[in-house]
Amino acid sequence: MDPDIAKAHTIHTDFYTSPLYFEQAKEKIFANCWNYAACTDQLSTPGAFPFMLLPGFINEPLVITQDEKNELKCLSNVCTHRGNLLVNETCSLTRMRCKYHGRVFSLDGKFVSMPEFKEVENFPTDADNLHQLPLFKWEKLLFTSLHPKFKANDFFDDMMERINWMPLEQLQFRPDLSKDYHVKANWALYCENYLEGFHIPFVHAGLNAELDFGAYTTEISFYSSLQLGIAKKDEACFDIPDSAIDFGKNVAAYYFWVFPNLMFNFYPWGLSLNIVNPTGVSESKVSFLTFVYDESKLGQGAGSGLDTVEMEDEYIVEKVQEGVRSRFYNKGRYSVKHEKGTHHFHTLLANFMQ
Ligand code: FES
Ligand SMILES: [Fe+2]
Repeated sequence: MDPDIAKAHTIHTDFYTSPLYFEQAKEKIFANCWNYAACTDQLSTPGAFPFMLLPGFINEPLVITQDEKNELKCLSNVCTHRGNLLVNETCSLTRMRCKYHGRVFSLDGKFVSMPEFKEVENFPTDADNLHQLPLFKWEKLLFTSLHPKFKANDFFDDMMERINWMPLEQLQFRPDLSKDYHVKANWALYCENYLEGFHIPFVHAGLNAELDFGAYTTEISFYSSLQLGIAKKDEACFDIPDSAIDFGKNVAAYYFWVFPNLMFNFYPWGLSLNIVNPTGVSESKVSFLTFVYDESKLGQGAGSGLDTVEMEDEYIVEKVQEGVRSRFYNKGRYSVKHEKGTHHFHTLLANFMQ
């Protein structure tokens, strides 16, 4: 990748069509980065929340536990005896007992007891504890990583600092307003479409009526970027305090993206967190998780009609997936003004895949 966007070409289309690259991306990209795990609203005290990390792709069975003192852990959800899944549903509990042969673990993953194991030599050892993964907490949101190559702060700090004036502690997870979308396109095509506002006037007539396209900006950080959607006159926008860097701007939406697959869309009503879960070379599941802090503002401005915008994006991205299979197209160029975010994403893909 040429670091100069004016000289650069986009990544080769093989990335969106090759099963080999799709497979390699698991370890080279996803295992080294930070993935969304859960929201603390989903946990009881004390209790456990089991989940599959990126189901159908990474498929790692994990469990988040919370003890009486609200101490959180992210653990392997695989029993160290014969590999049974330990916790099968979200529950309130003080110890985890395996339903296969009764091995018991404490909520911090330590081996506690095992029936019929008196004769076993050199037992238990550390290997009988559950594997513990790193956990990064931002307000109610929890993230983990299989083999973090970089600190979570390198991914999240810029976003956290930029909007530290928002009442994030008041966000309520709303499963009733959350939804999964199944898109027939490679995960990276879905992401790179998100990373430019260039297509808004062409693809999203409704959204275009809310946003001032001329004032739309993209800012690049190391492993994240921010697109700032500025409201047209009289459209809904944030009430930004004078201590904040964006004071004086009519921000309708903060579109933060965190490499490789997390999109944090903040609107005056709260957060739409979109997680792009690869499920095949040319298919993805995109989960829209909704967190609300001001219900009265739902349905206004750029944060309304998200389902329509999603349909418009899916339509175009699925057409691109068909196009990148062509023998006559394998790369293109970037608009210097409008495709900085996509160029940055492609640069990261190239670096991680090396
Ligand atoms: S697999 Fe868990 S006790 Fe045997
Ligand atoms: Fe779009």
